[in-house]
Amino acid sequence: MVRTAPQGVTLTLRTDDLPPEELIFGRSAAMQEFRQRIPKFAATNVPLLIQGASGTGKGVLARYIHSRSSVAAGPFVSVNCAAIPCTLLESELFGYEKGAFTGAYASKPGRVEMAHTGTLFLDGIDEIDLPLQAKLLQLLQDAQFSRIGGREDITVQIRVICATSRPLEHEIAVGRFRADLYYRINVATVELPTLRSRIEDVPQLARYFYERLRKRYKSSAAPISPLLLKLFEQHTWPGNIRELENLMERYVILGSEEAISEELVSWERTPIAPELPTNGPIQLKKVTRKAVRELEGWIILSALEANRWNRKRAARDLRISYRSLLYKIRQAGLNPPHARIA
Ligand SMILES: Nc1ncnc2c1ncn2[C@@H]1O[C@H](COP(=O)(O)OP(=O)(O)OP(=O)(O)O)[C@@H](O)[C@H]1O
Ligand SMILES: [Mg+2]
Repeated sequence: MVRTAPQGVTLTLRTDDLPPEELIFGRSAAMQEFRQRIPKFAATNVPLLIQGASGTGKGVLARYIHSRSSVAAGPFVSVNCAAIPCTLLESELFGYEKGAFTGAYASKPGRVEMAHTGTLFLDGIDEIDLPLQAKLLQLLQDAQFSRIGGREDITVQIRVICATSRPLEHEIAVGRFRADLYYRINVATVELPTLRSRIEDVPQLARYFYERLRKRYKSSAAPISPLLLKLFEQHTWPGNIRELENLMERYVILGSEEAISEELVSWERTPIAPELPTNGPIQLKKVTRKAVRELEGWIILSALEANRWNRKRAARDLRISYRSLLYKIRQAGLNPPHARIA
């Protein structure tokens, strides 16, 4: 028996807090080229895969595309697959029937059903485990699924947008992602550029965050100085737009440019050229060991920032164990950004 998802279940799309269109695309050549392709993606309801490093604005773009699509009147339901433990993700996505498992006292619809007639945004699709990938494949192929413990197939009409910050081709090669699902979600693809490759957009973004956050915190921090903008221009921005936003947040809270410019300067201190003694012998072993330690600390910090200090993901990116990452963090004396505010 085929049942249609309940019409009444909707989630409100907050388009009002989307950044202005001019800001989403900016002025850089990389984004202008990108902007021209967006209307096509919005018009067709084919599955779309958004790729891009962490903090490049994949979530913002997904909401923007939904707001311009033919399902804009429907709900926009976002699921952060990386934040929900694998064991809970299935029930979160597909819902369950009463009695499906201990504690299931009543039936509950999942996010897939809630997205009926709208967009389902699967953020961090690379984090979904293989059994759940099989269920998603069925959903994409037949527009049907069943709740956990349910015997009926439920039909939904949804547009699926997925996002990943890791190349899925690699995940397929190592056996963590199904190739058939990849081809289904990858009917259309866009890759968001890093903030470094659209560096000319930084001043406009920085001013936007300054204005917004200054109001939010009722801060009297002075407008961004040309000197600070210069530092921004030189920075590598491993954490992309999120890093800029967090930095501006610290600036309006602390009200002092020094605090954040120090942070930027220390970030830029790439340890590629070690300091050598100007008189006396160069103790090669000692100098090299120190340089390697500094370089390692710098690489680890970049990986942590790129993964929003999610140590599990950073360890995976660095291809080292979680325990050895914790050890190296302690050894290098690294602290998460919120700890640096205090
Ligand atoms: N063009 C933009 N204008 C203003 N703010 C933006 C823009 N793009 C991203 N942001 C802000 O930067 C932060 C990161 O954006 P978003 O969450 O969309 O990135 P993401 O690529 O999905 O990151 P992740 O891979 O870590 O989920 C958010 O707070 C978002 O509001
Ligand atoms: Mg995101």
